[in-house]
Amino acid sequence: MNIKQLLSEKVLTAMVQAGLPEDTNPALSISNRANFGDYQANGVMGAAKKLKTNPRELATKVVEHLNLDGIAEKVELAGPGFINIHLDKTWLAAQLSAIANDEKLGVSQRTTGTEDNPQNVVVDYSAPNLAKEMHVGHLRSTIIGDAVVRALEFRGDKVIRQNHMGDWGTQFGMLLAHLSDKLQANEVAETALADLENFYREAKVRFDNEEGFADRARDYVVKLQGGDADCAVLWQQFIDISITHSEEIYHKLNVTLTRDDIMGESAYNPDLPKVIDELLAKKIAVEDQGARVVFIDEMANKDGEPSVFIVQKSGGGYLYATTDLSACRYRSNELKADRIIIFTDARQALHFKQVEIVARKAGFLPEHVGYDHCPFGMMMGDDGKPFKTRTGGTIKLAELLDEAVVRAKDVIAEKNPDYSDEKLTEVAQKVGIGAVKFADLSKNRTSDYIFNWKTMLSFEGATAPYLQYAYSRIQSIFSKAGVNQQQFEQHFAIVEPQEKALALKLLQLEDVIDAVINECTPNLLCNYLYELASLYMSFYEACPILKDGIDEQVKQSRLALCAQISKTLKQGLDILGIEVMERM
Ligand code: ARG
Repeated sequence: MNIKQLLSEKVLTAMVQAGLPEDTNPALSISNRANFGDYQANGVMGAAKKLKTNPRELATKVVEHLNLDGIAEKVELAGPGFINIHLDKTWLAAQLSAIANDEKLGVSQRTTGTEDNPQNVVVDYSAPNLAKEMHVGHLRSTIIGDAVVRALEFRGDKVIRQNHMGDWGTQFGMLLAHLSDKLQANEVAETALADLENFYREAKVRFDNEEGFADRARDYVVKLQGGDADCAVLWQQFIDISITHSEEIYHKLNVTLTRDDIMGESAYNPDLPKVIDELLAKKIAVEDQGARVVFIDEMANKDGEPSVFIVQKSGGGYLYATTDLSACRYRSNELKADRIIIFTDARQALHFKQVEIVARKAGFLPEHVGYDHCPFGMMMGDDGKPFKTRTGGTIKLAELLDEAVVRAKDVIAEKNPDYSDEKLTEVAQKVGIGAVKFADLSKNRTSDYIFNWKTMLSFEGATAPYLQYAYSRIQSIFSKAGVNQQQFEQHFAIVEPQEKALALKLLQLEDVIDAVINECTPNLLCNYLYELASLYMSFYEACPILKDGIDEQVKQSRLALCAQISKTLKQGLDILGIEVMERM
């Protein structure tokens, strides 16, 4: 169900009948004030300007042709030529009935490509560096990416997750040398690597201070790159343990990534020489002071000097950039991507712009393949500076999530002194993790935001606890009413303004999902769910449901509305990877 699309088509038909060209944009939007109707079509103004005619007269003609019988109860002309559409309540009720039993909540399944072969979308997200522990910087990529992935899948697209983990590079030399020493001293790898952060620090201290260690580290790099078997075993051990750390975080965060989604930097290693050969053969890359470089004229600075993109170092080593070119090639050719989406922090924007230009030139990224680098801003502390520990260190993601659960536990215990410890732990888990995720996901993706425990765990305002609470309140209505939500005849009668507002909102889900998918902005879904929950709260105040003596049909309809709201909240939060509970 896409009301906007339906109305756009109807308005366009009327526009054409009024003499406007087929490609006129009806410019339909949701009205932001109820007295302007539910939707507005503002396209007449633009069309009139082009034709140099009077917009008001043109709009009058369009309205004469506009056939919204049964859909709208009123169509009005306003201002210089706005068309305001007030939808019919009976029609809205019928639309709700039509979707009441649809598990996709009226969101139609996408038919891009063919139905059997929906669009292939490669989503590159999370991608921590395995040399270290996951820190707060990886939170955003992981959860924003996962929300977009789930939204795409809900819409019917085929998603191929790619966890482009940083499992390669010179720093592994020092780590492997250090690990090898620990194993020599009979330590078990799992114990040695239990605290990756600490392990990295120790290795770095040795690298900087210990006589001969740096040389050994460099030796390991050469051996690793040369495919030395012993070294490969050591490396694999390291990587496996580090991946296990990441998996623990994924589990805590309720994100859908698994081991099968890992396609780390090392996986591209065998292809890198071929990438360079192709770039040289096509004369895209050139030799420059012993290195191989692409000069990108499209990104020249104001003095006309091209942007320099190094693809192979003078010693022969490859770079992050080379791997990303290779990834473009693999994703287009092997994964048959129609669209590639990459989530990293904004500091990598230039890199991905360069990658795209070079990959397109080289044919690694054919014209029809979309390439969206989706940058995001940083998490800041209360002081407005990058979020750090009190001593200025990076905050480990695992610790942050544990703290969220502890804090949620306090909040929940205060509200529900009767909860058993078991129940408390279960609820705190969902609320704490949900709070961190929602606080992040609800922010505009591209801006920095301030991380604040108090606001994110509040039961007021746009927070996970507020939404989870709204959900559990609906559940308690059903248990009070003794009605099974899954099995009751749903008849909708939309009468009160609060009911109408809810009906409209419920029918706008597809619109929101599409916006999330197109712009890669889960915050739009967060806003939507918050608005839905707020509308529910006002409805609950204004429209009694279980009051004594209430008309049975009114009660049924209100319960039906509650059921639809409950399903929508649950599904919406599920797309964000946030869990709900029956009682909290
Ligand atoms: N490992 C990188 C980092 O932590 C992110 C990788 C993103 N994906 C890519 N294709 N480069 O910054």
